[in-house]
Parts: sequence; C-alpha cells; structure tokens
Amino acid sequence: MGLPIMLQALDGHVPKRTPIWMMRQAGRYLPEYRAVREKAGDFLSLCYTPDHAVEVTLQPIRRFGFDAAILFSDILVVPHALGCSLTFEAGEGPRLVPVTNAAELAALREELDPGKIDRVFEAVARIRAELPREMALLGFCGAPWTVATYMVAGRGTPDQAPARLVSFIDPPFFAALIDRLVETSARYLIGQFRAGADAVQIFDSWAGVLDPEAFRRWTIDPIRRIVAAVRAEVPGARIIAFPKGATLSGLTELVQATGVNGVGLDWTADRRATRYALGGKCALQGNLDPLALIAGGKALDGAIDALMEDFHGAAHIFNLGHGIRPETPIAHVERMIARVRGS
Ligand code: CP3
Repeated sequence: MGLPIMLQALDGHVPKRTPIWMMRQAGRYLPEYRAVREKAGDFLSLCYTPDHAVEVTLQPIRRFGFDAAILFSDILVVPHALGCSLTFEAGEGPRLVPVTNAAELAALREELDPGKIDRVFEAVARIRAELPREMALLGFCGAPWTVATYMVAGRGTPDQAPARLVSFIDPPFFAALIDRLVETSARYLIGQFRAGADAVQIFDSWAGVLDPEAFRRWTIDPIRRIVAAVRAEVPGARIIAFPKGATLSGLTELVQATGVNGVGLDWTADRRATRYALGGKCALQGNLDPLALIAGGKALDGAIDALMEDFHGAAHIFNLGHGIRPETPIAHVERMIARVRGS
C-alpha cells in the first residue's frame, strides 16, 4: 500500500481524496473520552498513563475513521517535565507556578524529565502499533512562544499581556526561556519521531497577539530552529506549523524561513489569498470555523462547500480552524466527514 494520504499532502501532492482530521479530536465532545477521563481522575494522569493515552487517541479513529490520529497529550507537558508545577482545575484550564525571571528559570531542569516524557513516547509507540497503516500518526508540541505565555502568566489570559510585557522589560530572560523551550521541544519531537510518529504539528495558538517584529523573533525564529534541530536527527521529518492568528505576510515569511511542510490556517484566514501566496510551497490545513460545526445543517454544508472549492486541486488537509468545542454534536461531525468525502 502507498503512503497515507495525509503524508502525501504534506509532501506537496494532491491525494485522490482530501485527508481529514480535527484538532482536539480526542476530547470532551465524546462520551467515551469523558468516561476514560473520569476513570483517570485528573487530566495529567490521562496524559502520562499510556493505557489511557492510547485509548483516547484511538477513540475518534474508531468512531470516525479520520485520516490521522493525533497523540493525546498536552503542550504543557514540556514545562511540566522541566519541573514547573502544573494542575488543571475543572472548567478553568491550566494553572502553573509562574516563571518570570532568570532565577526562576535557573531553578528549572535543563532537560526534560525522562520519568515523564518516556511515558509519552511509550504511548506513541503503542498507538503506531495499533493504528492501521493507511492512517498517519501525528505527534506535537507547543511552539516556544505559546508555551512561554502560559509559563510566564501561570495561566491562560485573553491577550497574553504578561509574556508580552516581560519580553519588553527583560529581553535576556525571555530569550533564555525561549531558548530552553527550543532545545527541549526539539528533543521532545525527535523522541516522538523515534517512537513512531509520522509527522508532527507545532501549535502556536497565541502567535496572533504579536506585532510583526515580535512575530519574527518569538514565533518564526524559534520554530525555524526547532525544524532544523529535528531534521538534523530525523532527515526529512514532516512538520506542520499552526501559527493561529498570523497575518498572510506573517504566514508567508514563516513558511519561507522555516521550511515547514504544512501550515494550519485558523478560520479567519483568507483562503484564496493564502492559496495564491503559498499553494505549491507547502500543504494548507484547515480551516472550518468550529462554530459552523456546532451550528450544523445548511450553514455547515455551505461552509464546507466553500472551503472545498477554494482548495480544490491544492495540497489541502481538511481541519477546523481551531479545536473542536465540547458542546459540538457528534452528528455534525459525522455530517462534516461525509460531505468532505462526498459520501
Ligand atoms: O488534539 C487532540 O485531540 C490532541 C490532544 C491535545 C490537547 N491539548 C488535549 C486537551 C492537544 C494537541 C492540545 C494542545 C493544547 N493544549 C494547546 C494548543 C492548541 C489550542 O487549543 O490552542 C493549548 C493552548 C493547550 C493548553 C491547554 N490544555 C488549555 C488552555 C486547556 C484548557 C482549555 C480546555 O479546552 O479545557 C487544556 C486542557 C486540555 N487539553 C483538554 C484536552 C482534551 C481538556 C481537559 C479535560 O479533559 O478536562
């Protein structure tokens, strides 16, 4: 059998049908996820217990037959494995002890704690062994900028003001924090590839709050260094970047500077302009508004049709413009997949 269609698209080819997966495809909209989540107790034990991580990764594959599985874990595993204390409060999101200066950074580990990440690598190996060959397995990490925003603030904030502020007030500290994340995230992705990941996605969910100069310094340059470090050890490694909220000129510069195989587009992207600028240079992934998926019906059908038309004939991977929300009806996901596949 040939290469999975997800990987064909990442290689710049136009597969015989459009590959489809969803960000956050393993998650609270699925009753079978909620059941395992309850059994595991807290969210981090879900991430670090291979039995659970393998199970929830495969749940959406069994139910919907997506063309790619994404490892179940979280971007905050990296700071946690550097020694940051981390908890997930029910309904409130992550809480970390903030890292705001050089002394606090010096107190963290230089390298990721193998006691934590080896469990993630074990999950990757077991998922790859159980996953049908025609489906790709995606690993991932957070981009240094996005992970740093949570480390500095200790939580999510509306516009990541704490990290932006510290990047202006104490650039040497902030650059050192980003460097630590570049090095450890590269090691983390290399470990995932060695365990069996077919491609990886780098999530820069907060790239959109940066001005153009800061976007170059804190989004493009760290991703460029991660891509280079990973490919030095895993030649030809397939990598997708998802710089949520990036402008078209920012996206274009990012693709040019980093050499990623694909870019994830959020739902605000101008698809035709993006295709004109980047089609043929890398795969385009996205970008259905997750709220169109909640709405369902004709609104959903229309949004899917417009999207498929805009990307017809391009190396396109169908996805949402951000993660699926917990309140999304499962029937709408089924309807979306059937429409994308024309079945
Ligand atoms: O996509 C997948 O199915 C793979 C698993 C995955 C999760 N988080 C599981 C998760 C991935 C790829 C992530 C990435 C992630 N985590 C990002 C980048 C992508 C994005 O959404 O912007 C970010 C910023 C985080 C940090 C994080 N983790 C936040 C802010 C939260 C709380 C918000 C929320 O949705 O509850 C989490 C928790 C989290 N990570 C959940 C899941 C399924 C929900 C936790 C639960 O089950 O209670």
